[in-house]
Amino acid sequence: MKSHTLLMPLDMHLHLRDGVMLETVAPLTSYSFSGAVVMPNLVPPITTKEAVMDYKKRIYAALGRVEEADDLLMADDFFEPYMTLFYQNYDRSFLEEVVDEIAAIKLYPAGITTNSEGGVSTFDLETMRATLEAMGDLKIPLCVHGETDGFVMDREAEFMSIYEMLASNFPKLKIIMEHITTQAAVEMLDKYPNLYATVTLHHLLMTLDDVAGGMLQPHLFCKPIAKRPEDREALLHVVLNAHPKVMFGSDSAPHPQHAKESCGCAAGVFTAPIALQVLCELFDAYGKLDNLQQFISDNAQSIYGICPEFKEVVLVESPFEVPEHYGNVVPMYAGETLAWSISDVE
Ligand code: DOR
Ligand code: ZN
Repeated sequence: MKSHTLLMPLDMHLHLRDGVMLETVAPLTSYSFSGAVVMPNLVPPITTKEAVMDYKKRIYAALGRVEEADDLLMADDFFEPYMTLFYQNYDRSFLEEVVDEIAAIKLYPAGITTNSEGGVSTFDLETMRATLEAMGDLKIPLCVHGETDGFVMDREAEFMSIYEMLASNFPKLKIIMEHITTQAAVEMLDKYPNLYATVTLHHLLMTLDDVAGGMLQPHLFCKPIAKRPEDREALLHVVLNAHPKVMFGSDSAPHPQHAKESCGCAAGVFTAPIALQVLCELFDAYGKLDNLQQFISDNAQSIYGICPEFKEVVLVESPFEVPEHYGNVVPMYAGETLAWSISDVE
């Protein structure tokens, strides 16, 4: 039986939510990933040091781990939540205080996606300068949801001029183009040394046809929306060839089933429990399994300067039946059989 081992898988863009949803989804990622960059778009968003630290405690609690006097007890299922703040114009002294608690700051254009109402409404350089310069000095990466409020298929391509403005004005700032979906974004990667990207699983697999070409598929609806075949080809090219500036970020974004299968479908694809299995199948299909390690961990370690604790995940080419539900969340490929499964985690 074919098998493949991954070391310290990392998910560099993950929505864990809060409350019961957090308890449902967090163990599904911590089981097979060493760590994940946790998105701050809660209600209200994470904007203070206290909120970061409290949320991290709730994540540990959902994993059955408790923190006492800064020592972690019961750390059987090792998993590091790399915390983020929701971008606002923060002053340098605040950033100096919080820098050790966060891995990045996530910028959302106001109103562009789930819980982003408090985001940035105008990209005015002078208003943002102090924050972005301080972030560059303190080596805090800026993660960006790069979409304008233009026509839905053009939103990411239209955002490229904003990436150029940010990358050229703040050369010390690491900028991560989150969940890129277009050829335009792929081309932007090599234009500026301080631009990087995450790519999701679902954007490597589908185009708009899969979402809306036949019967509407609410569980595949997300922001940014899946694009054209040539865009997917461009993503596949850099991912399968292990471009060093590209990392895996699932953007696994759980919503309750009723919020997806409803009039006014919430955006987000829930892929956390199937991501590694499907990535193995995909890389194997292209004869590129040897490049998966870089995409799933090594590139992220060098870009973020992180060193996760050891975790070894063994996958085998043996069928895995995807459950119809995890709690009240429907995963991608619900009820279908995948070719690869996880056989061991150490
Ligand atoms: O599809 C998405 N869902 N895209 C986002 O940017 C946010 C996410 C969510 O939080 O549900
Ligand atoms: Zn996201």
